[in-house]
Amino acid sequence: MHVAHIASEVFPFSRSGGLGDVVGALPAVQAAQGSEVTVVSPWYASLGGETPGHLWAGDLPELGGALGLGDAPHVWVGEVRRGGVRYLFIGLSPFSRPGLYHDDDVWRYCAFGQAVLPVLRRLGTVPDVVHGHDWQAGLVVAHAQLAGLATVFSVHNLQYQGKWNFAEGSRWTGLPDWALGPDGLEKDGDVNLMKAGLTFADRVTTVSPTYAQEITTPQYGEGLEDLLGGLARQGRLSGILNGLDQERWDPRTDPDITPYGDLAGKAAATAALRAEFGLDSAPVLATVSRLAGQKGMDLLIEALPALTPDWNVVVLGGGDPLLEAALTGWAQHPRVAFAQGMNEALAHRIYAGADAFAMPSRFEPCGLSQMIAMRYGTLPVVRETGGLVDTVPHDVGFRFAEAEPQALAAACTETLAAYRQPGDWAGRVERAMRLDFSWDGPARHYLALYRSLR
Ligand code: GLC
Repeated sequence: MHVAHIASEVFPFSRSGGLGDVVGALPAVQAAQGSEVTVVSPWYASLGGETPGHLWAGDLPELGGALGLGDAPHVWVGEVRRGGVRYLFIGLSPFSRPGLYHDDDVWRYCAFGQAVLPVLRRLGTVPDVVHGHDWQAGLVVAHAQLAGLATVFSVHNLQYQGKWNFAEGSRWTGLPDWALGPDGLEKDGDVNLMKAGLTFADRVTTVSPTYAQEITTPQYGEGLEDLLGGLARQGRLSGILNGLDQERWDPRTDPDITPYGDLAGKAAATAALRAEFGLDSAPVLATVSRLAGQKGMDLLIEALPALTPDWNVVVLGGGDPLLEAALTGWAQHPRVAFAQGMNEALAHRIYAGADAFAMPSRFEPCGLSQMIAMRYGTLPVVRETGGLVDTVPHDVGFRFAEAEPQALAAACTETLAAYRQPGDWAGRVERAMRLDFSWDGPARHYLALYRSLR
């Protein structure tokens, strides 16, 4: 079985969020389980990790003129082999600017989407299954399906769909006219590359069973609920829960903290975090998050007046300037600490040192932070949605239903009551640290899915 994952992010080479973590972890586990695995991603100007070795360069007339890159755009391909996986990076001029994402991404990922299969053919490596991730890979899935390959498309976040006005965008796809209509890529007068993946893939997955159900409803379907409901009725939509890279996230070996595997070590990590931020002896509620509406960070901010009498609150993250400004203001409060932006080492210290971890997400396809927090013995306080439902057991964490600050605050009150019962709390922490979120099970699920397509 040869599977090619197609994604716009792959850790450690490129990452903006959980998508990069997943594509950075799943392939190596699949390779260890015996599959041949290739990962194909753009060659960004700023790539982390090892520098890819030159593999191939040439002109691709298949890309056509409508992209404005000339009649036969020049393409170069680099390769890294690592952990049994072959990572291919496709270089195209639209990706030579710094940074991952830009305003003209629909055009850029159309160029990528047209280039992937021709490149794989030039390299003589055509996979059995093309597995695309999120809208940036939607066009690759459509082309692969039309080329007769088996295809899987995974939704990590339905909110971002890759839309562009139809007149311009449809010409960038390289697809035949019949594939561009309302039964194909078109949605409400736009080309929609998420819809390309959903429509053309043999099977659609999303990253938790609960989110797979939620996205068939208007509340979570982002306008695609009818299409998704139809896929579900045909048995073509399923949820496969993400795993966690158990080596990258292990409090017993983590080089960014004083490693620990028990409650005493955990208490030392909390003391260190308190000292770092000048916090008092109240319990520490933390979050590490993009500051965005999806993540409910506005709910956390609105709940702060109710929380600070009992809790220290530590927030690490960046994003929405209004939320950043609100948190900067709140950081004057002796019990509130805000570190703006992303800082990997600090994230590890927070996961280790916090007592509880807040995720008041409005929607959460899977969520990785709650799994990390639990592995570090930090108890999640989560809104009951998506992967948070599927990963946070009642005898470990705390859950609430409404996306309201009062509901979050009430769940934190319940959390505080448990915290004040040391026996109850210790039991929860120990259960949390023993939960198994390894990728082995999910990787076997994907393999079974691929096999069902052949
Ligand atoms: C997206 C989702 C998140 C999920 C991640 C990886 O970032 O928002 O819930 O965990 O993708 O699948």
